[in-house]
Amino acid sequence: MQQKLNPEPTIPGLIKVPPHPQWPNLGPEETEALKGRIRRLLQEQDAVLVAHYYTDGELQNLAEESGGCVADSLEMARFGSDQKAKTLVVCGVRFMGETAKILNPEKRVLMPDLNATCSLDEGCPAEAFSRFCDQHPDHTVVVYANTSAAVKARSDWVVTSGIALPIVKHLAARGEKILWAPDKHLGRYIQSVTGADMLLWQGSCVVHEEFKSVALERIRRLHPDAAVLVHPESPEAVIEQADVVGSTTRLIKAVVEMDNREFIVATDGGIFHKMQQLAPSKILIEAPTAGEGATCRSCAHCPWMGMNSLQNLEEVLLNGGNEVVIDEPIRKKAVIPIRRMLDFAREQGTNMKNRGNA
Ligand code: 13P
Ligand code: SF4
Repeated sequence: MQQKLNPEPTIPGLIKVPPHPQWPNLGPEETEALKGRIRRLLQEQDAVLVAHYYTDGELQNLAEESGGCVADSLEMARFGSDQKAKTLVVCGVRFMGETAKILNPEKRVLMPDLNATCSLDEGCPAEAFSRFCDQHPDHTVVVYANTSAAVKARSDWVVTSGIALPIVKHLAARGEKILWAPDKHLGRYIQSVTGADMLLWQGSCVVHEEFKSVALERIRRLHPDAAVLVHPESPEAVIEQADVVGSTTRLIKAVVEMDNREFIVATDGGIFHKMQQLAPSKILIEAPTAGEGATCRSCAHCPWMGMNSLQNLEEVLLNGGNEVVIDEPIRKKAVIPIRRMLDFAREQGTNMKNRGNA
C-alpha cells in the first residue's frame, strides 16, 4: 500500500524549541524535605500525581510513593479517570494535562508548567488540520494523543503509541482509509506493519528525530549482544535496526523480560530511571543523537518534559495556579474519540499497565 503525503506540510522551523530548563541541584536532605512538604500538600488538597516516564527521577519516585502513578500516556489517561481524588496534578506535557481534563471535567487538573508543550502538538495547528480533514472527507481521522484538544475534537479516534497498531489494524480490516496525524514516523511505521491505506500529516518529535542511524550501526558493532529498543517516533532507519519497537511501557518491559545484559535505548533519557529501578543489573546505553547544534538541543531529553520539577510542583500546589482549562464545546467533542480508544483497549482485554503494542 502506497503512503500518501499531506500536501500541507508543517514547517519544523516554526517550532520554537526552548533551552533545557536548569533546576537547582538539591542535596538528599533537601530533596526529602521538599518531597515531604509536597506529600502533605497533596493530602491536604485531595490531590494525586500522574507522571510520565520522561520526567525527573525524584518526581517519578514521589508520584509512586504518594499513591499516584508513573506511566505511558495511555495509562496516564486511564489512571486519572479511575481516581476519586478531587485534583489531578499531571507532570508531563500539556496534551497529557488536557487529556486528563477532557476525561475528568469535574476535577481540578494542575500542571507544574502550562508551557510544557510538545513539537508534535505544535506542528499540527487545529485550523490547518481541520482544512486537511475537510479535503479528505472519505477518510477516518486518527490522531496521536500528542495533539491539542481542538485537534482531538476534529478526530474519529485518538491513539497512543501503546494502542495505535491494534486500532489501525481494526480500522483497516473494516476497509477504512485513514487520515493520520501528526507524527509521520509513527504513521509510516504503523502503515508498514498493518498495510493500511494512510494519508500522513508531516509532523515529528524533535527529540526522537535526532537519533542517528549510522552512528547507531557503529554502536551496535561495539555491543553486538545488546538489544536495540526504539520508540516509534524515531526515523525509519533507526526503527529498522530495532529488536523491539514500542511505547515507553513496552520498552521498559523489554529491559525487564529480555535475557540480554545490554540495551541500546532510542527514546528520551528520562526512561532510564524506571528501567534501572526495575532491572538494576542491566546495562543501558543511550542511542546516539546529533549532539550540539541539532534541532533538539536537549539531545535525547525532551525540553518540555524537563519543565517539570519538584520545585515548581510545590509552587503550583501552594498557589493553585496552572489549572488546565478547556472550552466545553471542544471538550465534549474531544472526549468521544478518547473514550473510543479507552473502550477499545478495555474490550481487547488489554492489560494497559503491562502492554505496549506499537
Ligand atoms: P508513550 O505513550 O509511549 O509514553 O509516548 C509519549 C511520548 O510523548 C513519547 O515521546
Ligand atoms: Fe512530544 Fe517528543 Fe517531547 Fe514526547 S519527547 S512529549 S513526542 S516533543
